[in-house]
Amino acid sequence: MKQFIFSILVIHLIAAPTAGVAAKTLGQALFDRHCSHCHAPGIDHPGTLMLSVNRGEAYAVLEERKDLSVDYIKYIVRHGQKTMPPFKPTTLNNDELDALAGYLSK
Ligand code: HEC
Repeated sequence: MKQFIFSILVIHLIAAPTAGVAAKTLGQALFDRHCSHCHAPGIDHPGTLMLSVNRGEAYAVLEERKDLSVDYIKYIVRHGQKTMPPFKPTTLNNDELDALAGYLSK
């Protein structure tokens, strides 16, 4: 039993970091850093709350949407919308914005 627990531990130690790196794209990492505090699932996030009120439940969680185009996302991020602030290229450069919009438009 001890050996079994030990092997599980070792598998986790080896597998976890590699899985994390492989699963997270640049776009996703940028979303986590700049957007998720307002757009993660749950109405305690202002972006998610506002979108559920203004657009409806099905449009509340950005990462679950299939209707957002790359151009639209880039426009909103650069210009802001209502209480969402605009993001300048000094905060999020054009390459990062491409990666982020690519991630969200899928
Ligand atoms: C301070 C909170 C906040 C942050 C940070 C924020 N947003 Fe928003 N975002 C909002 C709010 C609030 C709305 C909804 C405005 C409305 O009701 O029309 C919104 C709307 C949007 C929309 C429009 C969705 C639609 O259906 O029209 C997109 C796209 C979007 N955000 C993307 C992002 C991305 C990408 C980031 C990170 C770079 C981000 N937001 C960061 C608060 C935020």
